[in-house]
This record gives sequence, C-alpha cells and structure tokens, in this order.
Amino acid sequence: MNFFTTFVSLVAIVAIFFVFRTLRDRRRRRGLPYPPGPKRLPGAKTYGDVISLRVPGQVIVILNCPKPARDLLDKRSATYSARPVIPFYDLADWGWLVPTARYDDAWRARRKIIDHGLRPSASLQYQPLQRTKALDLVRNLASSPERFREHLELCQGAIIMPSVYGYDVKERGDRYIDVASEISKLLWRTILPGALLVNDLPMMGYLPEWLPGMAFESLARHGRKLGEDMRYPPFQFVKNGMRSGTARPSMTLTNLQEVDDIDSPESENAQRLIAEALGSLYTAGADTTVSAMATFFLMLVQYPDIQKKAQAELDAITGRTRLPDFSDRARLPYTEAICKELIRCRVVTPLGAPQDMTLFIVVASVLSVFTVGQAKDALGNEIQVDCVSTGALVR
Ligand code: HEM
Repeated sequence: MNFFTTFVSLVAIVAIFFVFRTLRDRRRRRGLPYPPGPKRLPGAKTYGDVISLRVPGQVIVILNCPKPARDLLDKRSATYSARPVIPFYDLADWGWLVPTARYDDAWRARRKIIDHGLRPSASLQYQPLQRTKALDLVRNLASSPERFREHLELCQGAIIMPSVYGYDVKERGDRYIDVASEISKLLWRTILPGALLVNDLPMMGYLPEWLPGMAFESLARHGRKLGEDMRYPPFQFVKNGMRSGTARPSMTLTNLQEVDDIDSPESENAQRLIAEALGSLYTAGADTTVSAMATFFLMLVQYPDIQKKAQAELDAITGRTRLPDFSDRARLPYTEAICKELIRCRVVTPLGAPQDMTLFIVVASVLSVFTVGQAKDALGNEIQVDCVSTGALVR
C-alpha cells in the first residue's frame, strides 16, 4: 500500500469516527442534555451529585452519592442497570463470558448454572481445598518470597480449577491456567474506554483488514481461539472422566450429571451453556482475587502497626500452636475488616465488593506465619516499594 492510499484511508477513518460519534451521542441523548460536568479535563469545581464526563468515545455519568445511585441503579434497575456493549467482545465471540455478558435469557441460564456452585451453602465445600492451597502458598512464600505474585496466581488457579473441573494444578505453566490467564488479561485490557478504536467506532469491524488501525482483527481472532481453548478442553476432560468413571467431584460434573445423556446431540445446547458458564469462572475469580491478595502485601509493608494488631488477634485465637481455619472467622473481626478494606481501599474492579473466602484464609494464614516488611539492600537500607497498577480494569 503506498503513502497516498494510507493517508486517504487514515483521513477517512478519522472522519467516519467523528461523524459516527456525533450521531451516536445525539441519538443517545434523544434531545436531553447531559448533567453538568467538566469539559474535557476534570476541573476543580464541584458539579453536584450527578455529573457527566467525556472520555474518548463516550460520555460517563457519575453518581456522586448514595441517593441517586440507589434511586437509579437499585429502584429503577430495569431501566438503568446494564453492562456496556463492547464491540471487540462481539468480534472475539466473548458473549458467553458471564461477568461481562448482556442481561438476556442466555445470561440468566448461565447465571443459574454458576449459582448452583457458588451460592453460600455450596461454597462451604471448597473450604478444605482453599485451606490446603493457602498452606501451599505459605510454603511457597517461605521458599521464594521474591516470587510472591507468581505464588498468589498459582494459589488461586489451584483453587478454581479443581473446584470447577476436578482438575489439579500443581505448578505454574499449566496449559489450562495459561490460556485462562491470557484471556483474562486481554479481557480486562480491552474493556477500558479508549483501549481500542473499534470499541468507539464499531463499524470498523466491517472494514478490510489491510487498512491501517485494523490490528484489532487479528487480536479478535486470537481472542476467539483463546475462548474456545478455555471453554472446551477442560470441559472435555470432565466428560472423558465421566466415561471412564474417573471424574472427580466438581461444578462441571454436578451439572453434567443432570444432563440426560452427555453423548446425545439433543443435550448439546445444555452442555454448551454449562461449558460457557463454568468457563467464565476463572476469568471472574482469578485476577480479581489475586489483585486483592497483592494489595494485601502492599498494605502490610505500608502499615506495619495494622499488621501487628492483626497478628495479635490471630495469636490470641490460635495460641501460635496451629494455623487459623474458617471456623475461627467469627472470632477474627480485625482480620475480617482487613479483607473488606483490601477490596475497598484499592478497588480491584471499580464496580463492587463481593465476599471472598479465599482472601480470608490467605490473609489469616499469611499473617499467622510471616511479618512482611520492606526489602533491604546490601547495606541494610530499606528499599522503597514501587507501587505499580497495571492500568487494566482488574489491576
Ligand atoms: C476479590 C475478589 C473479587 C472481586 C473484587 C470481584 C468483583 C466482581 C464484580 C464487581 C462483579 C460484578 C460485575 C458486574 O455486575 O458488572 C463480579 C461478578 C462476578 N464474579 Fe466476582 N469478584 C471477585 C471474586 C470472584 C470469584 C472468586 C469468583 C468465582 C470463582 C467470582 C465470580 C463472579 C461471577 C460469575 C460474576 C458474574 C455475576 C453475574 O453476571 O451476575 N468473583 N465480580
């Protein structure tokens, strides 16, 4: 392609982008003005409880205090509660991923499948596994503390995969975990406003791939392949286990046992929904929990006095003769408050705060065994912590 063609293509794409955006904004507003808000850059003035903000490609309306948030998102959720449409996700065929899917009948069906395995009564069955993996984490941290992030990722993967598929993860580099981690990273990176031009200008999805700015096409193909690798091979692993009688208890097995005949074509749709629903869990639960765990280590370094208080609480319960367990939870309000604070103070996803049992047992076990502080250089001086956020939706 010569310089002239490239230049004309670029000008055409930019022109289409602005025309499209203007038309879209007008259509969205249907003649009503947006709430007041800073022009392009946030200003210092206060604009009130409901403000709007323009970022490339979209207008964000911010509900600045609980009353309008409750009035609109709770009381009138049928109108105002929805997930953003991400054109790249359509190109990558990621509509099946439950945490980002649109609210439709398929989402409801997948949500029901997940609910079976994650409702509070069902989640009690994962506690022994969570505790075992928290202890493995403690061992790994003792042997190579500098690789703590890797150990956290392994710990969470080694809890999710057996729970969902009855599949044991022993070390990093596991084939299923690698695929799941790769898709998670792509997912959280490409959801952000301005991350990809096609998200602001969906019609780019119909343009030929040789035009400049179309690299998202190959990224989408890669995402589609990752999505297939994530849903079907571990699902097939459970089906094979069912046929040979070796399948271990898991959410997938429980759901497949309710399917009349796993080899009949009539059950294909039901099986697809199970594979999609449960294939979403790594994406939903791994990076989120790992991010909160990583924040925990940062906080330990930054607030040694809080670490001491939590250790005193834990020692009083365990007498330093054993490691904490879930049965101690009700008597550990300070440790419990730390878990809540971890999700609040450096928000994992800017959307909400769930209960996380893994976070509790990891926090309690690590505090019982280690005192985490700043690393020291060769001269014994403390090395300041580099506080880096990835900038993706799940940090
Ligand atoms: C600290 C850890 C976690 C955080 C901060 C977190 C955060 C969130 C948030 C904010 C949402 C709502 C997204 C929305 O409605 O648009 C969500 C949804 C979801 N999360 Fe988590 N999560 C965490 C751990 C987990 C774990 C461990 C699992 C399961 C293994 C999980 C499974 C899900 C699922 C399936 C959804 C989608 C629910 C639906 O569509 O109704 N999450 N999570």
